[in-house]
Amino acid sequence: MNWNSDIIKNLSWASTISNRAGKQKVADKIVAKVKDGDVIGVGSGSTVFLTLFAIAEHIKADKLNILAIPTSIEISMACSKLGIPLTSLYEHKPDWCFDGADEVDPNKSLIKGRGGALFKEKLLISSSPLNYIIVDDTKLVDKLGSKFPVPVEVFPTALLHVEDELKTLGAKEIVLRLAGGKDGPVITENGNLLLDVKFGEIDNEMERKIKAITGVIESGLFINYNIEVLVAANEG
Ligand code: A5P
Repeated sequence: MNWNSDIIKNLSWASTISNRAGKQKVADKIVAKVKDGDVIGVGSGSTVFLTLFAIAEHIKADKLNILAIPTSIEISMACSKLGIPLTSLYEHKPDWCFDGADEVDPNKSLIKGRGGALFKEKLLISSSPLNYIIVDDTKLVDKLGSKFPVPVEVFPTALLHVEDELKTLGAKEIVLRLAGGKDGPVITENGNLLLDVKFGEIDNEMERKIKAITGVIESGLFINYNIEVLVAANEG
């Protein structure tokens, strides 16, 4: 039996997508990699959202059997809208993943987590033998932390302990991320809080040091991961 519902049918990206034309081009590069039988890890964010639509057209046109492992409720719902069947890490290891990023440095290290899905994104990227990060050229930076703070997902009652420890690591500004559509803080999909943290300097050990703090679930730093970066020019 099918639901008589418009919610999934009418699902769209919540806000305006910046540089839509550029993101669309990079989406097409991902579509070209989809093969029949693939289990694909799907990251989160507007670039991924656009890419899913392009993948869905390819699946329909070429009658492909694809399974997706999503990193957020939003992407699960988008897959459902587009008729892309879902699976999980219990059933499958991904053949490859694609995801967006907020910053990419010259060593291909990343800041991710503007959308709050950093924990599952890192879990999928760590589980997958092949990862594509799709960005437009506004995301390229000389140094991580130039434009974006580092998101840190925190177990709720550990908040103040984590704040203390982040200051010891050199955090200059620590902001509790507030929700848009509810009062109070953002609650992540794992039931945790998010801190957005600006550091003076982010060295190669910073990801490991943040993760070692009791109460930190994950950070949005992805330093030296196994990824290939696909870049599209900004077309406004
Ligand atoms: C989600 O938590 C993020 O890591 C996104 O992948 C990142 O913010 C990129 O998003 P856009 O594709 O919307 O720029």
